Amino acid sequence: MAGSIKAVRGTRDLLPPETETWNFVEAAVRDVFRVYNFKEIRTPVFEDTQLFTRGVGEETDIVAKEMFTWEDRARAQSEKTQSLTLRPENTAGVVRAYIEHNLGEKGLLQRFYYIGPQFRRERPQKGRYRQFYQIGAEVIGPTSAGSESPAVDAEILEMLAALLGRLGIQNWTLNLNSVGCANDRPRYLEALRAALKDVVHTMCADCQRRVVTNPLRVLDCKVPADQPIIEKLPRMSDYLDESCRAHFAAVQTILTSLGVPFVVDHRLVRGLDYYTRTAFEFTHGALGAQNAILGGGRYDGLSESLGGPPAPGIGFAIGEDRLVMTLQETAGAATRPADVYIAPLGAGMNVHAALLSRELRRAGVIVTLGDESFKLKKSLETAHKLGARYALIVGENEVGSGQFALKNLGTGEQVKVARDEIADRVKVSS
Ligand code: HAM
Repeated sequence: MAGSIKAVRGTRDLLPPETETWNFVEAAVRDVFRVYNFKEIRTPVFEDTQLFTRGVGEETDIVAKEMFTWEDRARAQSEKTQSLTLRPENTAGVVRAYIEHNLGEKGLLQRFYYIGPQFRRERPQKGRYRQFYQIGAEVIGPTSAGSESPAVDAEILEMLAALLGRLGIQNWTLNLNSVGCANDRPRYLEALRAALKDVVHTMCADCQRRVVTNPLRVLDCKVPADQPIIEKLPRMSDYLDESCRAHFAAVQTILTSLGVPFVVDHRLVRGLDYYTRTAFEFTHGALGAQNAILGGGRYDGLSESLGGPPAPGIGFAIGEDRLVMTLQETAGAATRPADVYIAPLGAGMNVHAALLSRELRRAGVIVTLGDESFKLKKSLETAHKLGARYALIVGENEVGSGQFALKNLGTGEQVKVARDEIADRVKVSS
């Protein structure tokens, strides 16, 4: 016999009842996005590879090591092959769509959200998958629409606090930093390189590579032996120019007024090159090593680097897998079992059971329709196994009299209920 085929390493099936938690999360976040006036955007899951090399940055781990990229075959001799990539993140795709559809032309801020799969060829472990899901949002627009304002940064962060609160997630930490801009970053990188020059040979192999390719990422190193060296390195905050300094101060002032707690982490640099000014991550203790539940920041130059008009922006992406895991480990997210299991007594009752199911479902009752071939005992056992709260028995007597036997599977109590009172009965006591 041929061997069975399994899901590819780093991918997984999401099965009931866990998918109920995913649905709960998605419904709650859509509600929050609605009141903050964010609208959904759906971009393709694969894009031209250049979007990510130019957008996310050639020297980032994501682009250098983790993309699923392939050469798309030409279908005709006149066609060229094209390098395509499964999206490792969605900000570049959203900004591409913003540029492609000229969404800045009305001079307004665009406020988008998205929910969908992303793909990175990372080493799989708890909380880290090769296909994972992000819930993200982006605010982008011309400067004249206020897209650079620190008020937008604060609004995004306050929305995130509200969103996590809505899901019942507490004890998160918001780590905040400013990574400067094109004006002050070169001076900082120069200072960083100079400070690292004499010590880098004592640091880990990754740091030695990063000094050459992407020195900011040295600050992100977690190797214990490197920590004393990193602590003594120059800090971005000492190199911010006047406008970046004022911007960062304003973000903090608004957050403090709104009562959103944060920690300034001068070592917070993100794994994508497009960030400018505000950068942030929310972490949660329940997650273990992969403790970042979400990350984001400003990307004031991204549109221009993708060939678009000046369009400062800011956004975030929540790792939905990690968000669900946090819920499971903290609140033990509840799922809603079926309200009623309908047990038809014999083949002649199938049509009546189907009609009754339809009536109840229309009234919003969650119904599992049983099988006529079961004897009553087996039906009740199945209803128990499914976790249904009631069993409704549909036999000739019931149909004839219009009075149905409704068994409460929690208490074992059984009562006769008139057909048009069943829905209220099971809902009232829910
Ligand atoms: P990111 O930090 O690369 O940012 O990813 C955001 C979140 O996605 C992470 O905090 C984590 O929760 C989740 N995540 C990342 N990789 C994996 C993985 N392999 N398995 C499970 N979860 C993962 C971005 O992607 C930016 N586009 C965020 C952003 C939006 N910045 C501005 N706008």
